[in-house]
Amino acid sequence: MERPHWAPGDIDLERPSVARVYDYWLGGAHNFAADRAVAQQAMEKMPDLRGIVLNHRAFLGRAVRYLLGRGVRQFLDLGSGIPTVGNVHEIAQSVDPAAKVVYVDIDAVAVAHSRSLLDGNKQASVLHADIRDPAAVLASVEVNDLLDFEEPIGVLMIALLHFVSDQEKPLDIIGGYRDRLAPGSFLAISHAGYEAEEETDEWREARRLYERSVTNTTLRNEVEVARLFDGFELVEPGVVRLPAWRPQSPDDLDGAERSFPGFCAVGRKV
Ligand SMILES: C[S@@+](CC[C@H](N)C(=O)[O-])C[C@H]1O[C@@H](n2cnc3c(N)ncnc32)[C@H](O)[C@@H]1O
Repeated sequence: MERPHWAPGDIDLERPSVARVYDYWLGGAHNFAADRAVAQQAMEKMPDLRGIVLNHRAFLGRAVRYLLGRGVRQFLDLGSGIPTVGNVHEIAQSVDPAAKVVYVDIDAVAVAHSRSLLDGNKQASVLHADIRDPAAVLASVEVNDLLDFEEPIGVLMIALLHFVSDQEKPLDIIGGYRDRLAPGSFLAISHAGYEAEEETDEWREARRLYERSVTNTTLRNEVEVARLFDGFELVEPGVVRLPAWRPQSPDDLDGAERSFPGFCAVGRKV
């Protein structure tokens, strides 16, 4: 297979990656045949997948704008993915050109592409790291050069934590970040999941296919997502289905909020 110029030399093009499969669903161009094959197979079982990932992206935008409205000017975007339209630095710097953003991802393509996109932007950087090691992320040059921990920071975990199992202790991971944040900082999470009785055969099949081909997932329901906000006070409307979090127009909802397979919330560090 031909290796495009933007693909770092050390990545395996035959092995689907979380970031590149997601990029395909988002309509991006930074994915390979192996990523597209599994992404398309999953879409055959779950035709709404593209709409689902677009809802995560839309929640990201609404949450960032909400935090900007609350005075936040620094963002730590964990599991930031392959940049597509509507990135955190684009939204934040359109409101305040001095706003600062650090992107963190484990995927080499996501990091390489983010680096080229951010070239020349002194207020934004990208770190290649595993977010499950908060101490290493927080000790990095990228984070410390840009972010001031005496001031509020918006920590974003968008479509990320379903890749962190209970055994990996997500509460400890989140706590590792929370404990360094100044009061008045925020955490925004969006998460795949639904109540057990809602699972359809198609959703189960799509999930099994994804887990066989890409990676394990841990779906969490409303109560389990709420537990992730330990040490944070949830802002209105609390934990809800993604389309129902501060929709910008009645069209945003369109009935989808009742059965949407994912929850989200924003919490403020107390
Ligand atoms: C589903 S994508 C979401 C991307 C982005 N947050 C968005 O909303 O468009 C999840 C991202 O998390 C990254 N990721 C998964 N586990 C990670 C980890 N342990 N450390 C860093 N990044 C991780 C993947 O590489 C992928 O880019």
